[in-house]
Amino acid sequence: MSFDLIVIGTGPGGYVCAIRAAQLGMKVAVVEKNPTFGGTCLNVGCIPSKALLQASERFEEVAHLLPKMGINAGTPKLDLAAMMTFKSEGVDGNVKGIGFLFKKNKIETFAGTGRIAGPGKVEVKDASGKTQTLETKNIVIATGSDVAKLKGIEIDEKRIVSSTGALTLDKVPGRLLVVGAGVIGLELGSVWRRLGAQVTVVEFLDRIIPGMDGEIAKSFQRILEKQGFTFKLGMKVTGVDSAGKTLKVQIEPAAGGKAETVEADVVLVAIGRVPYTEGLGLKEAGVALDERGRVKTDNHFATSVKGIYAIGDVIAGPMLAHKAEDEGVAVAEILAGQAGHTNYDVIPSVIYTAPEVASVGKTEEELKQAGVAYNVGKFPFTANARAKVNQTTDGFVKILADAKTDRVLGAHIIGAEAGEMIHEAAVLMEFGGAAEDLARTCHAHPTRSEAVKEAALAVAKRAIHM
Ligand code: FAD
Ligand code: NAI
Repeated sequence: MSFDLIVIGTGPGGYVCAIRAAQLGMKVAVVEKNPTFGGTCLNVGCIPSKALLQASERFEEVAHLLPKMGINAGTPKLDLAAMMTFKSEGVDGNVKGIGFLFKKNKIETFAGTGRIAGPGKVEVKDASGKTQTLETKNIVIATGSDVAKLKGIEIDEKRIVSSTGALTLDKVPGRLLVVGAGVIGLELGSVWRRLGAQVTVVEFLDRIIPGMDGEIAKSFQRILEKQGFTFKLGMKVTGVDSAGKTLKVQIEPAAGGKAETVEADVVLVAIGRVPYTEGLGLKEAGVALDERGRVKTDNHFATSVKGIYAIGDVIAGPMLAHKAEDEGVAVAEILAGQAGHTNYDVIPSVIYTAPEVASVGKTEEELKQAGVAYNVGKFPFTANARAKVNQTTDGFVKILADAKTDRVLGAHIIGAEAGEMIHEAAVLMEFGGAAEDLARTCHAHPTRSEAVKEAALAVAKRAIHM
């Protein structure tokens, strides 16, 4: 069997690439080793975590927010099994959707592990061990990433879990210890805290969410602490004793010093993810990796071997579903002779906690380090009419604009619905817009988005409601 393009992996990078290539007239096949399509994101990542965040946020609202609105629904009772079913139904609907899209776009699907068997050849080995070799003009590697392991700590996905196990716990842990104050730790920590766990987060660095704008991170940490999170910053986990009924977690200062033991019922290891290239035969095929084990690519996603490309979590850049999707579209368009391109300066990122945290473009620290002169405009949700009436006033909007040209270089929002609001800044930045453009755009009243407009006005020190 011969194709124009074979995509290995059907996560957001792979499936989107396959669809775009089919739209452009290519004969396309995908190879997937998992029983379902959709990769990490749909099966054990974005989708199930957002289902549990949605359900647990509603659970907490019944007790804390609804009575303030005059709705007394009593003390909420948790049916964790039903919540897990709700999550699984959400996943199921989404993964089936990908199968439908493959059929609609006449993309052939092969179940099994794909291995690059030589130029233009992909060998597929199915679950029974049977192999077949497919021929193709081009190959796109979209094999994603896997959980990063902590040396000396064995993940059993029951008591010592990765994100995958933390999405399927069968009871609420009394005490949850999270290793890593990154996105997974804070999202899944929020889920289990809302459902009743005491959550302690041990983080190696002296701050949470490295890479995020420092002022936003500080405010985020304060809000999470108010919600009941305990942070042990500048600390590392050196071992977990799982012999008894309770886990005994040894922690010590990152720089060395006096060790202490913290007890927990469940430990979630969330210290990042690593590229997944196992079984692909990259070495034999001559495909070069970088120093961090990621597939090395040029600006056009080409690897060191002609006809082999790579996208998504398996290459450099933020490990985000929409980044993988954008790259999937770009490489398909490049293969079709078009000018496919991913703009890494405008990739939004969202943490789906309550409040949400969303950002796009440069942080204040990055601008300082690059020596770029900038102006800052900030606006708090306490001064936004809709936020006030909804009693969701935590957080603020921060816009960073070039001091000379007023061009928006970064936007950061902490607050309810930040993940939806960030996109007006993203569109503006994609078009090279200025803070004044945002400030002069009429925003509907009363909306939380008016805080974005006010922050843009504040860049020129002329916010109206502050
Ligand atoms: P993946 O989604 O990892 O897909 C790779 C696919 O390749 C898999 O299906 C795998 O089975 C298959 N594969 C691997 N090797 C082979 C082979 N040899 N043969 C055949 N098939 C193979 N990102 C966001 O943007 N927003 C979020 O809210 C978000 N939440 C997340 C929550 C969690 C708990 C986790 C773990 C991740 C989250 N992410 C989120 C990150 C997101 O899931 C990844 O960035 C995204 O899935 C990467 O897409 P990908 O296509 O590169 O790879
Ligand atoms: P992360 O990179 O976001 O955070 C890992 C944290 O662990 C960092 O703060 C790091 O300093 C800390 N750390 C590393 N080693 C440590 C150690 N030994 N002891 C204590 N702390 C340690 O990684 P995370 O949270 O595992 O997420 C993985 C990827 O998944 C991220 O790159 C993220 O982009 C993606 N993701 C995205 C989501 C979203 O977009 N909403 C949601 C969940 C995951």
